[in-house]
Amino acid sequence: MTLRTPLCGQLGIEHPIIQAPIGAAAVPELAAAVSEAGGLGMLAMTGLEPEQVLQRLEATRALTARPFGVNLILRADQRAQLDTCLEAGVKIVSYFWRLLESGDPYIDEAHAASAVVMLTVGSADEARRAVDAGVDIIVAQGVEAGGHVWGTVSTLPLVPAVVDAVSPVPVVAAGGIGDGRGLAAVLALGAQAGWLGTRFLLADESHVHPTHAMLALGATETDTAYSKLYDVGWPDSPHRTLINSTYRAWIEAHSPPTGRRPGEGETVGHFRDGRPIPRYFMGLPTTTRISDGDVEVMALHSGQSVGLVHERLPAGQIVTDLIAEAKAVLTGLAATR
Ligand SMILES: Cc1cc2nc3c(=O)[nH]c(=O)nc-3n(C[C@H](O)[C@H](O)[C@H](O)COP(=O)(O)O)c2cc1C
Repeated sequence: MTLRTPLCGQLGIEHPIIQAPIGAAAVPELAAAVSEAGGLGMLAMTGLEPEQVLQRLEATRALTARPFGVNLILRADQRAQLDTCLEAGVKIVSYFWRLLESGDPYIDEAHAASAVVMLTVGSADEARRAVDAGVDIIVAQGVEAGGHVWGTVSTLPLVPAVVDAVSPVPVVAAGGIGDGRGLAAVLALGAQAGWLGTRFLLADESHVHPTHAMLALGATETDTAYSKLYDVGWPDSPHRTLINSTYRAWIEAHSPPTGRRPGEGETVGHFRDGRPIPRYFMGLPTTTRISDGDVEVMALHSGQSVGLVHERLPAGQIVTDLIAEAKAVLTGLAATR
């Protein structure tokens, strides 16, 4: 049995597994390990200086000759980052946090450089509009996803609705896939690959902070919350994080609005350049980003699939395990009368 889908051929990968661009944790070592194992590794390039973008591309290429992609969050101008990636020969570009219209330079420039364009959506209508605008691959993100969450529908009803809306354009399922059973399920829904963030956040190569990893490994499926709580630096945007002392204190205070929350403006740690990290800062506290602080109180972005992850493993082994599990599930189902 093979799980290969037409999208695997289009992207030049072996297995229908994409490592989600998990912000600062998606380092070259992670993306390269996933690509080397036959999945698609992704780098998160949002807001980086051109030389940092180039350095990450070079570091990844030094570790793998296989395809990998880049991701840009379009809530602010990312044209410089896009240009740098395309000039350096990137052929797979994913966008998040903006709907794209026909004639959009983010699509046209990528296509002019022979790159395929992926866009994350949260509904069938958004998927249809994206395809009309020229997007090549749709990422359907369910509300159970970790990190910033664009839509409000969960993966199980979202994926088939999006597949029906845009077929034969390939759809990738994001949100809630923690193991091979989830991968088999989204393939059954018509997705051509699974897009996993939380699972790869806990890969050995990820730059997740050890405290975040420890809390995530001990968490169950009920231990995350969807809120707009961590809004410093990215206001008014829903995200899913581990329930921690910051979240609990806010709930206990009856969820007051920004400006009146417990500990507002307090310093909870420091970035590597010495700047203070305010409570409610939106960013992921990775080891490369922060020098000190109380990590437990920070934005510990994680999805509901966190309850399915019990150990840290090399990313390549995660890819191999996901495929073996999904095949076993599908073989078992086929044998069931
Ligand atoms: C720690 C973390 C950081 C993320 N950063 C990004 C990002 O930079 N760009 C993006 O498009 N999505 C980002 N996401 C969302 C993922 O792309 C994806 O939709 C999500 O992880 C899927 O759900 P899962 O966590 O259940 O696998 C992030 C998710 C997590 C958990």
